[in-house]
Amino acid sequence: MSETVRLADYTPFSHSVEHVAMTFRLAPEATRVTTRIRFGAGGTALRLDGEGLRLLALRIDGAAVSAEPDATGLSLTVPDRAFVLETEVEIAPAGNTALEGLYMSGGMYCTQCEAEGFRKITFYPDRPDVMAPFHVRIESEMPVLLSNGNPSAQGPGWAEWDDPWPKPSYLFALVAGDLVAHSDRFTTMEGRDVALNIWVRPGDEDRCAYAMDSLKRSMRWDEEVYGRAYDLSVFNIVAVDDFNMGAMENKGLNIFNSKYVLALPQTATDEDFARIEAIIAHEYFHNWTGNRITCRDWFQLCLKEGLTVFRDQQFSADMRSAAVKRIEDVLTLRARQFREDAGPLAHPVRPDAYEEINNFYTATVYEKGAEVIGMLKRLVGDEAYGRALDLYFERHDGQACTIEDWLRVFEDATGRDLTQFARWYTEAGTPRVTAEESWEGGTFTLTLSQDGAKVIPVAVGLLDPSGQEVRPTEVLELTEARQSFRFDGLAARPVASVLRGFSAPVLLEKPSSAEERAFLLAHDTDPFNRWDAGRSLAKEVLSQMVVRGDAPSALWLDALAEVVLDGGLDPAFRALTLRLPAEDDIARTLHEAGVTPDPDRIHAARRAMGDALAERLRDGLGDLVAPVPGPWSPDAGQAGARALRMQALGLLSRLDGGAEAQRVFDAADNMTEEVGALSALLDAGAGVAALRAFGDRWQHDRIVMDKWFTLQILHAGDAPAVTAALVEHPLFDWKNPNRFRAVFGALSANHAGFHRIDGSGYRLLADWLIRLDAANPQTAARMSQAFDSMSRYDADRQAMMAAELERILNAPGLSRDLSEMAGRMAG
Ligand code: PHE
Ligand code: ZN
Repeated sequence: MSETVRLADYTPFSHSVEHVAMTFRLAPEATRVTTRIRFGAGGTALRLDGEGLRLLALRIDGAAVSAEPDATGLSLTVPDRAFVLETEVEIAPAGNTALEGLYMSGGMYCTQCEAEGFRKITFYPDRPDVMAPFHVRIESEMPVLLSNGNPSAQGPGWAEWDDPWPKPSYLFALVAGDLVAHSDRFTTMEGRDVALNIWVRPGDEDRCAYAMDSLKRSMRWDEEVYGRAYDLSVFNIVAVDDFNMGAMENKGLNIFNSKYVLALPQTATDEDFARIEAIIAHEYFHNWTGNRITCRDWFQLCLKEGLTVFRDQQFSADMRSAAVKRIEDVLTLRARQFREDAGPLAHPVRPDAYEEINNFYTATVYEKGAEVIGMLKRLVGDEAYGRALDLYFERHDGQACTIEDWLRVFEDATGRDLTQFARWYTEAGTPRVTAEESWEGGTFTLTLSQDGAKVIPVAVGLLDPSGQEVRPTEVLELTEARQSFRFDGLAARPVASVLRGFSAPVLLEKPSSAEERAFLLAHDTDPFNRWDAGRSLAKEVLSQMVVRGDAPSALWLDALAEVVLDGGLDPAFRALTLRLPAEDDIARTLHEAGVTPDPDRIHAARRAMGDALAERLRDGLGDLVAPVPGPWSPDAGQAGARALRMQALGLLSRLDGGAEAQRVFDAADNMTEEVGALSALLDAGAGVAALRAFGDRWQHDRIVMDKWFTLQILHAGDAPAVTAALVEHPLFDWKNPNRFRAVFGALSANHAGFHRIDGSGYRLLADWLIRLDAANPQTAARMSQAFDSMSRYDADRQAMMAAELERILNAPGLSRDLSEMAGRMAG
């Protein structure tokens, strides 16, 4: 049985670590790791973490000691004073398929230590509140040998690295391989000259330019906006093909999933480019929010992740369109975090218990964690936010901190009591806010109520009946169960635009007519709310199509057409407005309204909705699918134009059977249009030839072939059948997390397919989760989240999903990771 770890049980570590020196003699089957740790005085009992290590030697102050490790570490009796502990262990990176600790990917050695991977490398107090400077020596025939910090010495077959900044073990990294660098330089605002390198396998060096450009822009932005400069003489990034997550912020040596580094216009979509920019920035920003100031314990994960996501969102908003970025972020938040918060995996932004910490790298910790910081900034104002952050860096540099430390900084900088605000960190669930309006004698009253007791910033603006803004955005603070806010001196009853910019991560319930939402879609001066008015109208229309079998309303079609055909509006905004609500989103919304969602009806209704939209826009589609002018560029303007073009192409294919999409596919010189056209063809049932051409063209490119797998399943009528065929494909390498996600992520994202009433989707996913769990528990556990929507559906589907969870729970040798997830979902 797994042990539950609790926040309430936190105790500091017995000893301080003054310095760590490690030597790695790399070999695939038998790597020797010697570790020399200088401990401060801390009593006679020392407990070190360690898993799967063969202990070869152990010395205290040079004298041999004998000790037997147990399954999770080593207990030692040590001198009651400062001392030096030396260990020598053997590990086998070649057999490490869990991709945690030291492992091999495509012939290179690399590490992943967050959260608790370092204990698979050596015996150590593997917890974030133990921070120490590291010196690392690597001995290997590999031509490129990298670790954290600055290079200190090297010779044939060896290299030494010195990291002067005390760090927790989870930020340790080592890479050894036959790599080539795309290099550049950066001079910090403090005048430090920094060598920048992106290390990739030979042949990939021409795909690094965009990541490098993103890195330099991130470094400059963090100086300009947060006053934070880089602090070493070298910054290395390494791309690896086998990686459980997106990327990792190891000090001075970020390790990336190669799909978030490598990009050419021919191989990467505009979305890929935007994601590369955001993740490069995210990992770089961790240097201050995560590395220089880290977490006291893993319950505080949002301290670094929420803040760093918030910072990367700010960065992308500055680099691109702030309005479009906000809409995209809220789309993701609602799709992933609201769903998580509504199901059995709901947890507070700061959880207070876990079995396996890897299961808490969630949308709640990351994305809701970022929303909480956005609310804090909205409540205290931009200027006070800046002062609070300065104080945070000044007060806590070099420390391992808690959410209490973070909030205290804001209290001290602003004089504000944040006791009530702290609930955002400790309470799970998406709050519901209800808005009611009244109008009397020139006074408009907005009454807000909540089902909890939080501080909720609700940004509100008022428009007059002609669409003019008569009250600019104001942030109302809802702190009680029910509160009224008055707006006096108005000439006519206004239309309220509530929760502008999505000022709080809540479900807003505001009884309003379809006409009023169409009005806001046409006139709101707040771009987020303008888009959201259209979205809420679309969801209502689609829900009524599903439940009552209605036809899509003319009101919605006309209002949408007005925006989509308005050449004066940002194409990216028009493309977002044209995007139909996702089937999963409708299923959740229906469930919340007390209706059991029927996946087949939802699918059919959404198709009918698209058909009706295509008909309505028929005359305009020709212009909308015209080629995007100018030489290709990944910038927001062109990306938005291509997004609109691809949306329109999808609609046009419903009218012309895919004829235009085939032409676009044949002529495409960039991946956005190649994928967009292929998707349109697959939806039109005309994708066979294009799919084959795509596969022939890209069969040697792992990153692009992931798309080939995904698209077929995502656009399949019978997704489980297509998936079952694709897992037999010679290129289905299930131990590669990207490939596994490309296939099974697509299966669970195909709502109607995954939820097929014959249970084939559930069964297939469970079969493969069980298989993957034996090799890679972390990725298996993440992918199991597909079952977290179980309680929404009818009794038959619920029973089938529950049976699959039960089958997973009974699988022999189940990991702690998957066992915790399946257990929580099975209830
Ligand atoms: N800390 C990484 C990030 O957010 C994510 C990560 C977690 C990567 C655990 C690997 C393992 O940037
Ligand atoms: Zn992060």
